[in-house]
Order: sequence, then C-alpha cells, then structure tokens
Amino acid sequence: MASKTPIPIRVRRMDYDIPRIPRYWYRGNAWTTHFMNALSTTFPDGERFFIHAVRNYEKQIRDPELLAQMRAFIGQEANHGKEHEAFNQALIDQHKLPLTSKIGFMKKALSYAKKRYSPREQLALTVGFEHFTAILANLMLEQADVIENLDAMYGDMFMWHAVEETEHKSVAFDVFQEVDGDYWLRVRGMAQATFFFMLITVRMQYSLLKHDGKLTDWRGALGFAKFMLLKPGMLTRIIPEYLDFYRPGFHPWQHDNRALIEKYVEELSPHELHAQAA
Ligand SMILES: [Fe+2]
Ligand SMILES: [Fe+2]
Repeated sequence: MASKTPIPIRVRRMDYDIPRIPRYWYRGNAWTTHFMNALSTTFPDGERFFIHAVRNYEKQIRDPELLAQMRAFIGQEANHGKEHEAFNQALIDQHKLPLTSKIGFMKKALSYAKKRYSPREQLALTVGFEHFTAILANLMLEQADVIENLDAMYGDMFMWHAVEETEHKSVAFDVFQEVDGDYWLRVRGMAQATFFFMLITVRMQYSLLKHDGKLTDWRGALGFAKFMLLKPGMLTRIIPEYLDFYRPGFHPWQHDNRALIEKYVEELSPHELHAQAA
C-alpha cells in the first residue's frame, strides 16, 4: 500500500503574463467564471494558512525525506498564492470586481481560525482542504479539455496548479499521520473543510453574480449546472474519492494518478527551481 509521495515534488516559478481578461473568461459563462474567480480569491490566503499549519510541525519531523517534501510543499503553495494574487488583482484592476472586501474577509476568517483552532486542528483542516484540492485537480487533469483550451493564461495557470496539487497531495496528510494520526480529528477536519469550502465559494460566487446583475442569467446558470453535475462534474464526479477519505486506512496515493501529470511535468520543466526527490 502506498504510504508516502511516490513522485518528485518540484518547485517551479511561473510569472505568468496577465493579458486583458474578458469579463467572462470561462467560455463567456458568467456563472462558471465567477465560480472560478471565487476559487481564485480564496487561494492566496487559504494557501498561506496551509503553509502555516504545516510549518508548525517542521521541528517535530525527523524523517529527512518528509521534511524535504514539507519544504517543497511550502514552496509550491507560496508560488500558487503569488500567481493567483496577481490574477485576482488583474480582475480588480480590469473589471472593478469587488474582490478586495472578499480578500479582507478571508484574511480575517483565517486569522480567527489560527486563534480559535489548536495547531493539530489547523493541520487536520489543512489535510481536509488538501484532499479537496487534490480531487478537484484530479478531475481537471482527467478532463483536461475543460480547462486546457481556454484562451490566454488562465487555463495554463489552473492546470499548473492542478499538477502541483497532485504532486504534493499527501504531504500535509503524511505530516498529520506522523505527528498525530487521530482518525476522528482527521474526519472532523474534513467535515469542517467541506462546510467552509462550500459556504465561502458559493457565497462569493453569489455576490459576484449579484454585483454583475447576472443572477437571472439562466443560460449561464444552466451551463454552470452542467459544469457541476455533468462535465466535468465538479460536484458529482468527485463524490467517490471524497468519501474514500473517511475510510480509516485511507491514504491520498491510494488514488494513484501520477500518469495524469506526466505530460505536464515535462512541459513545465523549464520553470523548475529545484527537483525534490521522492
Ligand atoms: Fe495550491
Ligand atoms: Fe495544496
């Protein structure tokens, strides 16, 4: 049974050039675009929270391999935050989207979480969020045409993010197992992560649609329903892998999807800062 990361975790610097972004950059669909914008808005501060939660345990980890993976995890998440921050800023500058208040909300909520939750609870929450991002990333990689053929850089950015979420998908989990391993805490962390993830993205998407007067755009809503339920099925097709997390013997690499990222790892190689041996 796989128990640790079986592939290298590579840290890459991307520096995407951000072009003029169409207001509804996801195939002209306001609902799906604002769903993706909501995700992007949560990333930078969310990922800084994950870094904080994992870094708390750096001194307790003795296994040099896992330590190196933790550092690669931190490097990757920091770069994701940086690129999504630039993208979010472009949405603010170019379209006057009201993201500043939402980013402010994320900062406040997460600094509250740091006070409210103990380090082990923060780590369990991170493990839950990381499983979420891993299964969403897997879906994007499996149905790459959903993202790949988008114009300009957003397709590339989301794809690069999906590849790296896959590479480091078990790092927080392995740290948790090493320092704690309490099954019920892991389950509770996932349940809470699910609740916050749904609440925050749906709330942000709703507010952006309202801001644009697009809540009654039925064609957009229908397209978004298809996106969530059928292709790629962001809500429906992740259910089996989501539920797997609740098995006591679960490990993220039991879903061995490394073949899905091979092609992209090759394409992304010029951006590598260093390769982290598995
Ligand atoms: Fe990330
Ligand atoms: Fe991640």
